[in-house]
Amino acid sequence: MAVLPIAHVGHPVLRQRAREVTLEELRTPELQQFIDDLVETMHHANGAGLAAIQIHRAIRIVALEVKDNPRYPYKPNIPLTVLVNPVLEPLTAETFLNYEGCLSVPNLRGEVPRFTELSVKALDRHGAPVERVVRGITAGTYQHEVDHLDGNLFLDRVVDTRSLATWDQFKEHHEAAFVERVRAIVARSGS
Ligand code: NI
Repeated sequence: MAVLPIAHVGHPVLRQRAREVTLEELRTPELQQFIDDLVETMHHANGAGLAAIQIHRAIRIVALEVKDNPRYPYKPNIPLTVLVNPVLEPLTAETFLNYEGCLSVPNLRGEVPRFTELSVKALDRHGAPVERVVRGITAGTYQHEVDHLDGNLFLDRVVDTRSLATWDQFKEHHEAAFVERVRAIVARSGS
């Protein structure tokens, strides 16, 4: 396994539309090795998620995992999940404001509206179908990662640019209020 370099905002790869992965290529040892590298790179950077496109490969695969994450200590845990060709459908028009960061946007966070409930359809890393419903903060994490596959960054969805903050300034001035909001969302939606 290997930790791969992460593309930063301004790199054209982050603005591409990633292409679908075929079952044949998914089953190759080379692609399975790449998925291991994606997961290892996410762990190494303490990401809550990482899209293949962020490590310079424009294919529709994302990894997610939240396990007492030091970058996002308030996020509910998400078991290690690899989604291939994911499709998200909002199940409600209701949104919440999520304070997001991104490994491809160093030292900046901002508030982004996200749907509170989604259906997820995808394949797992072995090609088996995945169908689930995700809610709350976890639904925000899914939307952030799948956005990457269409060349979108959270920056594009920041409605009020006055919410932008470095990580230090977030911690000092915005985290307490956001953690209160997260608690209310988790209490209502369960995640
Ligand atoms: Ni990101």
